[in-house]
Amino acid sequence: MTSVSPFPPFTTSPELEAEADKRISHYSESKRSAVLPLLHIVQHKFGFISPESIDWVAKKLDLEPIKILEVVTFYPGFRQYAPGKYHIRVCRTLSCALGGSAELMEDLCKEFGIDRESADPHHHPICVSPCGKYSVEFAECLASCGTAPVCLVNDDFYEAVDVEMMKKACK
Ligand code: FES
Repeated sequence: MTSVSPFPPFTTSPELEAEADKRISHYSESKRSAVLPLLHIVQHKFGFISPESIDWVAKKLDLEPIKILEVVTFYPGFRQYAPGKYHIRVCRTLSCALGGSAELMEDLCKEFGIDRESADPHHHPICVSPCGKYSVEFAECLASCGTAPVCLVNDDFYEAVDVEMMKKACK
């Protein structure tokens, strides 16, 4: 399924280079320590960590791209696929599963026109609506098990979630 991305494609610019160089300058002992800050800059600006951006970060830090990819795949907070403008992460760990997170995911997909059925969630965990505005992904425990089901919408946290709450959060 194709969708319209709300994020620009990855490209370098004098501003991006300057921002990265500033972050790297904080780690004068070992510039490879700037890998997380640089990946955060990329994800914030471009929505996800593309292969091109991995190459760019590797070059900035004088590392092999595989070293950057290892970091990206280690942290679940880094995305390798473009999300929608509103990216909903639905916790599916035990308390939230018992609290109905699977049903919530189904209802969210219905509400936002997301076809998760024909996606391959194992290889493409992020499913995006055709308009590019909404996307969903299952997440593991978001550390609020007593208020299940729990979701993150971009960087904002929501507890005891239902579809109406998500509709308001995605406006
Ligand atoms: S199980 Fe969902 S927040 Fe812990």
